[in-house]
Amino acid sequence: MVDTQQIQIQKTAKSRLPEVDFASLEFGQTFSDHMLVADYVNGEWQAPSIIPFGDFSLSPANPALHYGQAIFEGLKAYKNESGEISVFRPQANLRRMNLSADRLCMPAYPEETFLEGLKELLRLDAAWIPTTSGSSLYIRPYMFATGAYLGVKPADSYRFAIITCPVNAYYSTPLRVKVEETFARSVEGGFGFAKAAGNYAGSLYPAKKALEEGYHQLLWTDGKTHEYFEESGTMNLMFVINDTLITPALSTSILSGVTRDTIIQLAKDRGIKVEERKVSVAEVMEAAQNGTLQEAFGCGTAAFISHIVTIGFRGTDFQLPSIESRQYSPQLAKDLDAIRSGAVADTHGWIVKI
Ligand code: COI
Repeated sequence: MVDTQQIQIQKTAKSRLPEVDFASLEFGQTFSDHMLVADYVNGEWQAPSIIPFGDFSLSPANPALHYGQAIFEGLKAYKNESGEISVFRPQANLRRMNLSADRLCMPAYPEETFLEGLKELLRLDAAWIPTTSGSSLYIRPYMFATGAYLGVKPADSYRFAIITCPVNAYYSTPLRVKVEETFARSVEGGFGFAKAAGNYAGSLYPAKKALEEGYHQLLWTDGKTHEYFEESGTMNLMFVINDTLITPALSTSILSGVTRDTIIQLAKDRGIKVEERKVSVAEVMEAAQNGTLQEAFGCGTAAFISHIVTIGFRGTDFQLPSIESRQYSPQLAKDLDAIRSGAVADTHGWIVKI
């Protein structure tokens, strides 16, 4: 465990905050003044430091650049009207990060050190946390291999870092998505459950093709048969059919979303019937045609709850019921907002106050 006294803090000489236009934030393009950095050397994590946001210096033979030992997380901090800062489920994100680390032969990062470092960083950059509705401070912890060698083996040294950025909604419009039956994001036995950089790299080409066809995102199907839905590029996937919230069951090829888990719990709290199981493309497309598909949405930290209005399937666009007619996802979004803002009690212990 790292004593917070040990966190070296070097403050920026000049804050960039006055240059920021909070009304027009592009996701992930505006970074707060400071970042946290910790190195893993000689088999142990060194005490973290908080330093001004800036470039890293890397060897041209850095193994993460060559073989992709790189993982990340996404979580959010909020500031309420009285200026109180809270973070949503940070322990869940660190747990998942350490599962990703294990799969990619990287060292786990200690929870206590993570929470203490994150709190220090947020205290220092508190003025960067937006307060307008729908906005937040996106927190990006990540880890990558360091060192210099080209042999294919797990690295001996790593860097853990946290950068943060004020953000608005990731998607500014309701989504048009396409069922992907040619390319695969992952397969059972692969590392789709890990939040690993490589999973995102492999998704770019199919996503680019979908964008050229007028869709915002893909609905990935399983890599073996393409008969079952898995997740969407930046989000987990949920459907409401016959008043039941249905979502693909987790597997080694699906990211175990913290927002997914939260939504399932909130739905159960409301007495909504929830099914986590294999969800076939045939079932959903049939429901879209016979009118029993009431809602479809993606959920994730960045995406929050993003309504799907159109599903493209084998060249035909299926229009889903209007967002105004939807009952479940808007209610679940409100429930989640109420917990995050402190308007209702956090009975699940999801909030960490700073
Ligand atoms: C998140 O929701 O935090 C994500 O990581 C999605 C995306 C921006 C990669």
